[in-house]
Amino acid sequence: MTEPALSDASGASTTVFVLNGPNLNMLGLREPEIYGSDTLDDIAGMLEDRAQELGLEVDVRQSNHEGHLVDWLHEAHASGVKAVLLNAGAYTHTSVAIHDAIKSITVPVIEVHLSNPYKREEFRHKSLVGMAAKGSVAGFGANSYVVALEAAARL
Ligand code: DQA
Repeated sequence: MTEPALSDASGASTTVFVLNGPNLNMLGLREPEIYGSDTLDDIAGMLEDRAQELGLEVDVRQSNHEGHLVDWLHEAHASGVKAVLLNAGAYTHTSVAIHDAIKSITVPVIEVHLSNPYKREEFRHKSLVGMAAKGSVAGFGANSYVVALEAAARL
């Protein structure tokens, strides 16, 4: 069953989903010269600290499976979360299903990347996530997530 999102005194949702796609479980080990040395748990800790300061809660998840990300986007809508931060990893560049899922929900989705895909291989220059998202933050390493959370707090 879908749990309703937490809310503040005015009834506004304070939960932000942070959804991570394939290979992001390997952060810390994976190409640290590109993605840095923070693990996904480190990033989750940074986000929990910042969320507390902003009066929000984060629900950080990771899956290597495209359909899980689609299901979680639907769940974000059904439970009425404030926003979703989405780093879809390589699915960013390929997934029509994730693009369609973002378009099928009213919850604002903020695209997040540790690296700046536009400075990298040409196949990373197209973002099906970015084409459907409210906005994008990329290129600041783990801080991309924190900047995206701050943007979500202002929505
Ligand atoms: C990434 C960029 C993608 O191109 C890549 O496939 C990833 C990570 C990033 O956070 O920089 O898996 O989303």
